[in-house]
Amino acid sequence: MVIEPIIKGVVARSAHPYGCQASVQQQIQFVKNAKQIENGPKRVLILGASSGFGLASRIALAFGGSEADTIGVSFERGPSEKGVGSAGWYNNIFFKQEAEKEGRIAINIIGDAFAKATREHVIEAIETYFEGEVDLIIYSLATGVRPNPNTNKNWVSSIKPIGDSVTGATVLLDNDQWIETSIEPATDEEIEATIQVMGGSDWESWVDTLINSESIAEGCKTIAFSYIGCEANYPIYRDGTLGWAKVDLHQASHSLNIKLASFNGAAYATACKALVTKASVFIPTFTPYMIALYKAMKEEGNHEGCIEQMQRLFSTKLNQEKPPVDAERLIRMDEWELKPSIQARVSEIMTNMNQNNFKQVGDYHGYKQAFMQLNGFDIHGVDYQQNIDDRYLRSLQP
Ligand code: NAI
Repeated sequence: MVIEPIIKGVVARSAHPYGCQASVQQQIQFVKNAKQIENGPKRVLILGASSGFGLASRIALAFGGSEADTIGVSFERGPSEKGVGSAGWYNNIFFKQEAEKEGRIAINIIGDAFAKATREHVIEAIETYFEGEVDLIIYSLATGVRPNPNTNKNWVSSIKPIGDSVTGATVLLDNDQWIETSIEPATDEEIEATIQVMGGSDWESWVDTLINSESIAEGCKTIAFSYIGCEANYPIYRDGTLGWAKVDLHQASHSLNIKLASFNGAAYATACKALVTKASVFIPTFTPYMIALYKAMKEEGNHEGCIEQMQRLFSTKLNQEKPPVDAERLIRMDEWELKPSIQARVSEIMTNMNQNNFKQVGDYHGYKQAFMQLNGFDIHGVDYQQNIDDRYLRSLQP
């Protein structure tokens, strides 16, 4: 069969396995040639390892100088009668192949990170492959639902403003249509549910579980990713439900920092740059800012993708005895996004952008290409006309 992209709204319903393979290989090549990570961790657990920042951090730590063995947890689906499977499924498979070629241990655990069984599976894998201890725990889950352990119901997150409604545009990736929308403010219940799903409590409970199972190595660190943003997106992000959840995540970093101090370790929330990922394209009214940002940063020559951000994080910040942090103890990887020159250019672009000219005025091409590439399409050097054997795909195991 020949695999074509299928996009519905902002969701990809197909993925190209060989495109995912090429993308993983290109990211590996990038980190091999970049500034190397010195004194990096050797045994790393990544929760949310199959795409976005989690995958990039896994590649950076395995191939960018640290030579880390990794256990990656993710929620992905393989090929079935319903379709070819998700990009993350193939990213896991091809990452493992490449890691094993270089003698690294790479264990993929596919399962719900909120489930007790997944935690037990991870602890078992740490025992078996890491001599019982981890040096770094990366929490990079992005999801819309989390089961409430006290009831049989799920918390479901809502990406909404708080207090006032927000008006803006979202671009649908299937038909490149600019849609003006207005998002009503969240209810108290929606705010609470979003904090439960995207805040710090699951991160904290994972680290507690690993402390209780004696899986924490001397000097173990943990990080989770955050976003702060700027005036242009405060109403939908920082001052909305997601921003409140991130404040909760920052607070969890402080309490985890105290807990890990007993192991001479530390915990940090890391504020990253806004980037196209499976998760971020869901944020309503965010596209105009993103395409203006991509344009401004590419013009200034300091645009980074997830892989560049993660290699820089581990080779210049987290590798330090005392990683540089701001007044709220956040590691800042968004410093280039927030440079006054970039923000001035972003607001100039946004002021002039509308439904008729967004493809020319903003970097919509780069934004959409990044989205296609997440799913293995539009990657240089891949033959998209090739016939792919369904039986071969089914034989690939993570
Ligand atoms: P992503 O969608 O690319 O990756 C999410 C990962 O979580 C995938 O590996 C997925 O399989 C896994 N996952 C989701 N639900 C799961 C479950 N129930 N059990 C196990 N695994 C599960 O997302 P992205 O963008 O890399 O997000 C990671 C973190 O980075 C999030 O906290 C996000 O808020 C943060 N961040 C993202 C930014 C962006 O612009 N994309 C900017 C700054 C922070």
